[in-house]
Formats: sequence, structure tokens, C-alpha cells
Amino acid sequence: MSGLYIALIHVHGLTRGTAPELGRDADTGGQTKYVLELARALAGHPDVERVDLITRQVIDPKVDPIYGQPIESIAENAYIVRLPFGPRRYLRKEKLWPHLDSMADKALKHIRETGRVPDVIHSHYADAGYVGARLAGLLGVPQIHTGHSLGREKQRRLLDQGVDAHVIQKQYNIHLRIEAEEAAMDSASLVIASTRQEVENQYSLYDNYHPRRMVVIPPGIDLSRFGPPRGPLQPVPIRCELNRFLRHPGKPIILALSRADERKNIRTLVRAYGENAALRDMANLVIIAGNREVVGEMERASRQVLTALLMDIDRYDLYGRIAYPKHHTADDVPELFRLAARSHGVFVNPALTEPFGLTLIEASASGLPVVATEDGGPRDIIANCRNGLLIDPLDAGAMGEAILSALSDRRRWRDWARNGLRGVRRHYAWQGHVENYLKAVRRLVGSRHRARLVRRTKTRLLTVDRLVVCDIDGALLGDREGLNQLMERLGSEDRVGFGIATGRRLKSALKAIRDNGIPMPDLLITGVGTEIFYRKQHSEDREWQRHICYRWEPERLRRAMKEIPGVRMQPKEEQCPCKLSYLVDPDTAPRPADVVRYLRSLDLHASVVYSHQAYLDLLPIRASKGQALRYLGAKWGIAPEQMLVAGNSGNDVEMLRGDTLGVVVGNRSRELRQLEGEPRIYFAEAPYAWGVLEGIDHYNFLAGGQVSSSGDEKGAA
Ligand code: GLC
Repeated sequence: MSGLYIALIHVHGLTRGTAPELGRDADTGGQTKYVLELARALAGHPDVERVDLITRQVIDPKVDPIYGQPIESIAENAYIVRLPFGPRRYLRKEKLWPHLDSMADKALKHIRETGRVPDVIHSHYADAGYVGARLAGLLGVPQIHTGHSLGREKQRRLLDQGVDAHVIQKQYNIHLRIEAEEAAMDSASLVIASTRQEVENQYSLYDNYHPRRMVVIPPGIDLSRFGPPRGPLQPVPIRCELNRFLRHPGKPIILALSRADERKNIRTLVRAYGENAALRDMANLVIIAGNREVVGEMERASRQVLTALLMDIDRYDLYGRIAYPKHHTADDVPELFRLAARSHGVFVNPALTEPFGLTLIEASASGLPVVATEDGGPRDIIANCRNGLLIDPLDAGAMGEAILSALSDRRRWRDWARNGLRGVRRHYAWQGHVENYLKAVRRLVGSRHRARLVRRTKTRLLTVDRLVVCDIDGALLGDREGLNQLMERLGSEDRVGFGIATGRRLKSALKAIRDNGIPMPDLLITGVGTEIFYRKQHSEDREWQRHICYRWEPERLRRAMKEIPGVRMQPKEEQCPCKLSYLVDPDTAPRPADVVRYLRSLDLHASVVYSHQAYLDLLPIRASKGQALRYLGAKWGIAPEQMLVAGNSGNDVEMLRGDTLGVVVGNRSRELRQLEGEPRIYFAEAPYAWGVLEGIDHYNFLAGGQVSSSGDEKGAA
């Protein structure tokens, strides 16, 4: 294969190729549509060989069985790939966080099965950003990230509205979301934004605000679907539907189309219409607010919006003038825009904020002028297309007047309709988007060496099908009798490899092994995952070293760390080429998260690992014990679910998470509390090696290879 292979990651919502259920719920909307169209548009380009849109597999009687299908072709060379991770049922995006490490593991497996490493990984939204960062880091391919909507902006908005910080955290898991976004930007070579404003006002809220790595490429639209009305009026189904509501269906249509979300501010539009007699007389109002069955049974947020809508219709007595159909399909949408255009109507987007506003472009492409909130997206679009007016979304009176004026001047209306058609072709066609996109991708791909998942070293790892990996201090060592028993059990298993993952350096790890009579492990991960050695003459995996040094600037980091109170460097023997280690005074040092923030603000990127309430390690963002293990697994063909890993402190977190079978021994340090309740992490009662043995039994790891992953259930609820 010679063309580009692009992997798009889009985690949440329900994504299918035919008749995507846009607006079905809060997680299936503009972004879903964007990634589907991007996938198709990219696949249609001659330089692109294959596009995988990687998402979540959902097997749930409440949703279409297609969402359970592992692969769906959506165009020539473009596929939706659905990976099973976490519980099978549909989950809203706020519930997916504990399962994302598993998604990264499943994605890696998919890539192994396809036999080709993508040239670029493009993540969409925070959840995919997290998965993408792990995957890109592991494979050594560039990551592109598109935020779509940003956690810090959402947090700011909610705080402005007076919502309590704890409530925001509880309802939206906002801290995880923001950290995922920061992690994506640590790793991403490029961030794609839709508007200038998004870069300047929203991304600037992040520690990782480095505008030189950001480009503005507005999304494109599918011009084969959205176009102006042609020929005589057809009895399309949605028109019949509207006619059920409207007394004078021939009047101009004021069209609004969005999810039933409070932020979309449909309510003010209804007020603007209801309180403006001239407008009420002149035009009909058509509100398309998602699909619904029974309002009373919908989720709370949509239920509230729709209830308010129904009550306002009654309050302003809008019967016969307003249509608010229960159902519409994706195919109805272009028809709706055309109907409104034909009626000499207007499209209104009254959202409280609008970072982009794809519907505005669709309206413009249909020859329908627009009236929209004065915010980043509409501002850019109306500046490019010169086809409408900007409004203050909070001022119902002015909104009504603006709509009335847009409808009243026929000549201007025609100019706007024409300008919109032209402007969209020039600025918002997918073709142009894809050209700009590929230009950026070629620059990234050209400058990087690709990871090769090849086997060069001779090791026993080729012949094992399972692996037990333990930390040394606190997991293997601590109780002599426990250690002996563990070694005896492992020694009798031919097909089970044994590895060590430690914060120590090789020399000190070997000493501990010798002093305690531990048999030589098949692999040694040392320096908190920054070095990998194989048993044979302790040969080092140099590829790993080369691979992890991405964005690693030890000199600058060392200088920056000098400014931080309460930390001092550990002795020289503890420092590695890719690990800077400090001793921490917990009373005077800042929290590790604040150290990360400080470094990011200097455009320095490191994972900061806190262990035993006393040590602080700085590692390259691609390195950790967990990433090292996955790299090894990919290289030697051992899947994470075939690995049992045991540890007791902060530097073990990454290897305990995800699809590996995690065991936290009884003598754990406080930092591991964060893992409580996570899937596939077993908290043993017994300390030291006894705890590892307990974990082995818990998972039934050695008995005949029938591994049980009963830890799954814990986090699944
Ligand atoms: C080991 C290492 C030390 C590191 C610590 C935590 O004790 O020797 O350098 O800081 O593990 O990872």
C-alpha cells in the first residue's frame, strides 16, 4: 500500500453509515455527522488508501443492531470499526472514562490485525483525545486532535451561570474531560479548530495553549445533499408533516433546527416570535428539535426543553402558526432547508454560544439566508458568505425585529440567498477541507520515522502466551516466604513469561534480583518504563528509547524544576536518559497536577509520576510502565488481557489500567486509591508476593489458561 492510511477516533454516541440518527440523543449530533463526512471525503481523495472511523461497539436491545457490527463499510476504502470495551450496553459519554484505556488496547489489537500502522491518528473530542494520545504514543505516529467542544469553555460557561463547581464535576466529570484534552494536546502534532475564535478564546484557556500547533480548517459540507430548491414543489414527506400543523403553509418559514438542548436557546426564539405580532402574521415558525416519542419519558434535559416549548406555544397561542414535528429523518433535513428557501424564509440559530454551527452552512448551501447568534462560528460564516444578520441570543425583542427585517426586504433576501450559495462553495466544501487537511498531514508524516512492530531479538517471549509482570519493591520483595511460593508457582509454568517493571535502574534491579534469589526474568522494564531489557545478556530494546524521546527536553525540564519548591533531585545513579527523579517534601511541594500545569505552560511535556508519597519522576509522555508493556505486547504478540500485572504505588497506575489484569497488593500506597472501582483491577488483601498470588488465584490466571476477568464487573456498573 502506498496511499495514506488514516484512523479517525470518535468514541461516543451512535455512529452508522446509513441514515445516521442525528439528534437522537445528546451524544449523537454534529460531531457524529462531521466525522462520517470527513471519513468519506478523505477516502474519496486519490492520495488516501484507507480510512477507519474507530468507535465503540454497542450491543443493546434499545439500539439498532448495526451498532454491534464490528465493521461497516461506509464508502469505498472507508469503514466504521466498532471495538468492544467496557459494558456492552449504550452509555452516555460521561460514563465512558473508566473504559478508555481498554479502548486503546482494543484499537491496538485492531491495528495488529489489519497489519498496517496508520500514518496518522485523528482524535475527535476529549475522550478520543485520550485514546488517541495513548495509541499515537505507542505506535509513534503523529496525532491530530479536534476538540469539537471544549471542557474548560463548558466549565466557564456553567460557572458563569452560577452552577456550583461540585455539581459541574459530578454531572459532567469535567476534570477528567479537561485532563484528557490537555493530554491530547501534550501529544498532538496538530490541533484542528473550526474558527479563529475557538483558538483565541477557548484553546487559550488550556495550559497547553501553543497556537503554532493549531490550524483553522472549517468543516466542509456535502454539497450533493444540500443545494437550493429546483423544479416544481414536490410532496416530500416532511412537507406533509408540517402541513399538519400550519394553517397557512404557504407563508415564509422561520426554521430552527437543533438538538433539544437548553443551550440551543429555542425558547428565546419562540418568545421573539410570540411577542412580535407583525412577525407572527408574516411567517410560520418551524422548530425541529431532535426526535421524540414520549416527552415525559425523555432524559431530563431534553424533557425540560420540550415541556417549556409546549407551554410557550400555549402561552402565546401559536396554534396553526408553529410546527414542531415529533420525527424527522436525516434525509428530511436538506428538504427542510429547501422548503424554507422556497418560501423565502430564513434559518435562525439562536444558540447561547455557537463555536461553529454546521447548520448555518447547510442553510446557506440551500440558498436560505441566516440569522444567528453573534459568536465565533456565525461571525466567520456570515463574514465569508455575507448572507444574513447576527443577533444577541438573550434579547428576544431584537431577535424578532432582526428576523422580520430579514424577511421583509425581498431584494436583499435574494442577494443573501445567492451570496450564501457562492460563499459555501468557496469556503465550506469538503473538497477544500480535505486539500488543506492533507497538506497538513503530509507535512507531519514526512518528518517522522514510523514505528515498526518487528521482532529482532531472540527471547523466550516468542513462545509464551501469558505474562506475569511485577513491581520489585513492595510487590515481589517484603516477605521472603511469599516470594518463594510465587517463584515456585511461576517456575512450573512453561507458557507463562515473567517480567519485572520497576522504578529502579537496571543495575539496582539486577542487584535486588540476585540478592533475593529471584530467577532471571524474561524481561525487565526499568526506570519507570523508560528502559526495556531482555533476559539474554540484558540486551536493551533501543527502539523503545528512540521511540519515547518525543517532546523530551531534559535540560529545559531540569531548569524549570529548579523553580519548584519542596523538590530536590535524587542521586545521580537514579537519573536515566529519559527519567528525571526527585524527592518530594509533601508539606512544601505543589501537587503533581500543578507541576504538570506549570510545565505545560512552558511548552514542556512530561508525565509526572508520584509514588510512595515521596518520589516524583518526570518521564517522556510516551513512557510509563504501562506503555512499555503494551509496546512489548505488540511486539511479541501478547495481548494486554494475557498479562497479569501487580504493583503497589503510583508508578504502577498505567500498567494496572486498561485490559491488563491488574492486582494491587495489600501494602499499597495512598496514590492507588484513585483506581478503586475501576474495571479489571483487583485489590488483594494479602501484602507483598502473597498479594500477587492472591491475584493470580482471583483471575484463575495459571490454571489451564482459562483466564477469568471477573474484575470487569466492578467498574461496569
Ligand atoms: C524507585 C527509583 C526512583 C523512583 C521511584 C519511584 O525507587 O529508584 O528513582 O523515583 O522508584 O518511581
